[in-house]
Amino acid sequence: MDRTIHPSSALKGEITVPGDKSISHRSVMFGAIADGTTEITGFLAAADPLSTLSCFNAMGITHRFEGDKLYINGKGLHGLQKPSAQLDAGNSGTTIRLICGILAGQHFPVSISGDQYLVKRPMKRIIDPLRRMGADITATEAMTAPLSIRPAGTLTAIDYELPVASAQVKSAVLLAGLYANGTTRVIESEQSRDHTERMLGLPVERSNGRTIVSVKGGQGVSAGHYAVPGDPSSAAFFVVAGLIVPGSEILIRNVGMNPSRIGFLSVLKRMGGSIEYLNERTVGGEPLADLLVRSSQLSGDIILEGEIIPNIIDEIPVLSVAAAFSAGSFHVKGAQDLRNKETDRIEAVCANLRTTGLTVESFKDGFAFVSKNSLFHGSFDSFDDHRIAMAFGVASLALNGPSTIRHAECVSISYPAFWETMQSLQR
Ligand code: S3P
Repeated sequence: MDRTIHPSSALKGEITVPGDKSISHRSVMFGAIADGTTEITGFLAAADPLSTLSCFNAMGITHRFEGDKLYINGKGLHGLQKPSAQLDAGNSGTTIRLICGILAGQHFPVSISGDQYLVKRPMKRIIDPLRRMGADITATEAMTAPLSIRPAGTLTAIDYELPVASAQVKSAVLLAGLYANGTTRVIESEQSRDHTERMLGLPVERSNGRTIVSVKGGQGVSAGHYAVPGDPSSAAFFVVAGLIVPGSEILIRNVGMNPSRIGFLSVLKRMGGSIEYLNERTVGGEPLADLLVRSSQLSGDIILEGEIIPNIIDEIPVLSVAAAFSAGSFHVKGAQDLRNKETDRIEAVCANLRTTGLTVESFKDGFAFVSKNSLFHGSFDSFDDHRIAMAFGVASLALNGPSTIRHAECVSISYPAFWETMQSLQR
């Protein structure tokens, strides 16, 4: 489905963004391997977390939705059952990478794959450490899915220094660590999102700029309650929309403010964005706030590189849209992993920015604006990537004529009601 978006008058109103995708995936996975029933409020019932849920259903885990609550009937570390068919992770990198940490410790063989995009994404990053732990895991020659995992007995604990800053890799190793002899330690020099360690209550040390997370083999996972905050990565689209559409004022309620996720807010503030944090609080171990966004004249030369990159990795597409409407320059470096997301996000962002008339140069590890004239409306490709669709949907609100987003329905991966929420702010 293509979607036409017209230039918008001021966006006004209050919205609540859907639940955090990263935390929703984890709440199902950790609930499944806990002893007893876990109650989840605010679960994101979008395609990606539902892929995680269906993988665990296929391994004998039952669940029920009751109002806004999801209950997962956990069966403990060793209670999963052999699925009758290959597991399907759909489009979800988080599903396939994290679940492999759990599958590596099971007593049954299993294989897992996903859609045409997921099977192109690199899996060597999880296969290498899991094999070091003794896991029996095989992939295609290109080290991509489908992946086959056979029982390997008890795994061996390792110390693993992450070669790529990735919460997915960190989490896969920590989950395998639950099935290992001894204490597994994951060391990262650039901090990635810390939901796994927070939710499992794992010890975290910081020394010499490095973060070390440990997990003891055999330590049980407690069943209980997870309160999923609103996804800051989803809020980011409406924060940018509010900043770039003149006269706007939007209140975004219940946004997760985990410091490992909100680097985009500091970038937008550096560009002169008016974003107020209201009603700051902590719920279920995660900080939350309501965000009041007012349209702003953006400016300032922005270079994004180094340790902020893992923090803003999912927000770079929409930050590039904010920058397109700013008077300043924009340069992203050291973000080569953007090429390994749902699509190659460096090329996708550059192609769509070029459609607006911007001159952009792409590099192996990022991109930069070369020159800027007036921006034009046009036809944008989503590349079937939810975040590209939403980022250029937002851009379209502030362009000089109607734009189209190709395959706009892909927002269902993380934000099924995105287009309706956008319309609700235009009334
Ligand atoms: C995620 C980690 C990030 C992010 C993805 C979700 C997670 O991926 O891009 O959307 O939930 O752990 P990487 O760990 O590959 O950077």
